[in-house]
Amino acid sequence: MTDQPYFPGLANVPAAESSVCYLDGSIGKLQYRGYPIEVLSEKSTYEEVAYLLLFGKLPTRPELESFDAELRRDRTIKFRIIDMLKLLPESGHPMDALSAAVAAMGMFYPGDHVNDRAFLRECVVRLVANFPTVVAAWGRIRNGDDAIRARPDLGHAANFLYMLTGEEPEPLIAHTMDVALILHAEHQMNASTFSARVTGSSLADPYAVASAAVGTLSGPLHGGANEEVLKMLREIPDGKPSTVRAWAEDRLARKDKISGFGHREYKVKDPRATILQKLSQRVFEKHGSTPLYDVATELERQMAELVGHKGIYPNVDFYSGILYEKMGIPSDLFTPIFAIARVAGWLAHLLEQLENNRIFRPSQVWTGKADREFVTMDKR
Ligand code: ACO
Repeated sequence: MTDQPYFPGLANVPAAESSVCYLDGSIGKLQYRGYPIEVLSEKSTYEEVAYLLLFGKLPTRPELESFDAELRRDRTIKFRIIDMLKLLPESGHPMDALSAAVAAMGMFYPGDHVNDRAFLRECVVRLVANFPTVVAAWGRIRNGDDAIRARPDLGHAANFLYMLTGEEPEPLIAHTMDVALILHAEHQMNASTFSARVTGSSLADPYAVASAAVGTLSGPLHGGANEEVLKMLREIPDGKPSTVRAWAEDRLARKDKISGFGHREYKVKDPRATILQKLSQRVFEKHGSTPLYDVATELERQMAELVGHKGIYPNVDFYSGILYEKMGIPSDLFTPIFAIARVAGWLAHLLEQLENNRIFRPSQVWTGKADREFVTMDKR
């Protein structure tokens, strides 16, 4: 049928009914299961937010304690997955290593997830627990170092930093990582979440679902943007208004996208960027500022004048990279950190999808030629 309307990028086309995340991009309102992101990032922890997303309610104290204990127990990954990571080329992107390791997990933990709610819960908890372990292990193995065993006495965010660096982070840094994970944990029907729901709708196992979502998140128009932001800020010679203005005007004149700006949903500043920016300031006050932050704030000012009227403002990725760099994290691990957080959101959508599943099978607008006559090779 050629007379059907077509919406590139499926913009504004609902792909599911969902109660996981509420988003009103015209006023910058973001809520997980009805709780404002500002409140969750101030009063909650990543573990509690993961429970909220996955199971639809705030946990009681015993529920959270038991979920947290399951997460801590499941932090260890199979030694054969570590062996597999050791065989990958160290120059490869960590998102590819994560995707491969997560897909391989399906071979170690097979089962019938659709009919077995207990198995499904086990997979979900294991995936949330294992993502940081895989990313930290790869972050070390590629440098020729041994992976570090998880510390059961540390929270999810602090333990990730410990497994990556070998040092227990000081409380403000651990808190900042925890908040960054909360802010990235879920964001409605974005590309990687859609990917998770599509893969899940075929009744694929949850490891295949998570691996597919990691692949989708890796692109520079999605999770990969936080890495791009840092490269871009480093191109700007200094933070003087005239320098930054000239750089931005030149990029915009060439119709190049400026990473960390713009969002399909938000027409105002992304509320997550506002929260991360405030946290960055606290970290910089304590640990010293970075010239990139000054360049970034000036770029935000100039962009508001140049393209604010089009609704293009900083998104969550704009400040996350600067913050992670200050924590000493290599820039190609920024997107894997996004995945460590977002896995909870993907799996919340998977559980919701499976509650009332119908396999995704959209239509298309046909633009080709039909009924063509086959021409034999010698006559082409
Ligand atoms: N820099 C400059 N111009 C921009 C930007 C930007 N970052 N984003 C959008 N625009 C302009 C476009 O050029 C276009 O202008 P036009 O109407 O004059 O042609 C208009 O705004 C609409 O842009 P689209 O690309 O159609 O918007 P879409 O909703 O498809 O894309 C996206 C959203 C992909 C996020 C886009 O803004 C972008 O590429 N941003 C940079 C990459 C980035 O930061 N991605 C992270 C997104 S957040 C996340 O995934 C966590």
